[in-house]
Amino acid sequence: MENNLYSKKVMEHFKKPHNYGRIENADGIGEIGNVVCGDLMKLYIKIGKNKKGEEIVGDIKFETFGCVAAISSSSAVTDLVKGKTIKEALEINSRKIAETLGGLPPIKYHCSVLGADAFLEAIYDYFSKNKRPIPKKIQKNHLRLKKEKKELEERYKQWR
Ligand code: FES
Repeated sequence: MENNLYSKKVMEHFKKPHNYGRIENADGIGEIGNVVCGDLMKLYIKIGKNKKGEEIVGDIKFETFGCVAAISSSSAVTDLVKGKTIKEALEINSRKIAETLGGLPPIKYHCSVLGADAFLEAIYDYFSKNKRPIPKKIQKNHLRLKKEKKELEERYKQWR
């Protein structure tokens, strides 16, 4: 049974995902597919400001077509970055997501990468739209994902 694989935390997020849905007029959208399994995720962000005038992730929502771990990881990402400054939020990575979830089975570790990547892509989108310099980490991630997307398209073109 699949849920024997997962921690209680993973199952809680899966059964009641936090911040599920979409944001109309989002400031940034990150849309990615997982090369390992083909699952998909779309993440929307709205940028706000805190009392110090710093930009924060004011709102965030996601839609994920994927497995239990992918949905739980997406939900955990939204909790981890919501309300944080962009600088703080960019510290997100798959290890932190897995930790928040009380761990993931090694075979499911790639699922937590989806959420972190989608968030970085949403920030990439926000910076690009606003013609702002894009931090190296996000640029590098974007190029890697672009390459992977190409691989996915190649893999599935026979079904089109
Ligand atoms: S198996 Fe695809 S993201 Fe988990």
